[in-house]
Amino acid sequence: MQRLEDVADIEQLDGTADTYQSLIARIAGKQALISMVTDRVDSAVIAAADSLKVIANVAVGYNNIDVAAARARGIVVTNTPDVLTGATADLTWALILSITRRVSEGERLVRRGEWTGWAFDQLLGMELRDRQLGIIGYGRIGRAVGERAAAFGMRVAHTGRDAEAVPLDRLLVTSDVVSIHVPLKDDTRHLIDQAAFARMKRSAYLINTARGPVVDEAALVWALKNRVISGAALDVYEHEPQMQQELLALENVVLAPHLGSATIETRTAMADLAARNALAVLAGAPPLTPVT
Ligand code: DGY
Repeated sequence: MQRLEDVADIEQLDGTADTYQSLIARIAGKQALISMVTDRVDSAVIAAADSLKVIANVAVGYNNIDVAAARARGIVVTNTPDVLTGATADLTWALILSITRRVSEGERLVRRGEWTGWAFDQLLGMELRDRQLGIIGYGRIGRAVGERAAAFGMRVAHTGRDAEAVPLDRLLVTSDVVSIHVPLKDDTRHLIDQAAFARMKRSAYLINTARGPVVDEAALVWALKNRVISGAALDVYEHEPQMQQELLALENVVLAPHLGSATIETRTAMADLAARNALAVLAGAPPLTPVT
């Protein structure tokens, strides 16, 4: 904020009212928009933006922005890649460990006051050593998740375009933990549907720290309830922040509230990068991290 306030007049939407309607009502006359992943910047917002030069999204994902509509009006769109890669990869591993070692399930047991003491066969989980981690989407975050796998003795399979990439079908059939790292686009919406769950091992776990709609949540509930897969750990949801009530009732799922990049260091770096992107465009310079 300081960086921006030094050179510009700032109008801040507080997020308590209907932010989308406020955005449409107040975007006219503004030259830069700093948006969060929860701000819908669609063609209606862009049509109302008569002076806008740059939309600086404080996120690596930009599915909340109609990039084509922005481009058609000559508005630059930027995102925050790289600075959040490590934090998101770490959170992915927190979820992998939490679901396979039943940490959240155990904590719920303790909090309910139902833990009666150590027991030899209580809450037995799955070890990661010699298992396969399947990574769907081998971009920056997917690779960073893969790099951490060696520490847990896992081998990695991944989709993508490089020589080692495997087809999605094969990855689903052979992996013990499947972790999603693709952006949300038309061709990735419901990429993991009922047919995909049916291909996975019954002992497998699904992890999603990318975007909720990549997974068909109704199919996920079906798969978890019927033990088609062993469990899931999610940081993102199909209709955030609304939760499928059935998910809340299941023990074999870990539910985090979209925390992938949520460290002090990373959120500071994201905010700083977004501000520098906006200021660069306003100064007539190239943006640091444009969406191409
Ligand atoms: C992103 O960057 O896309 C995350 O979802 C929010 O940090």
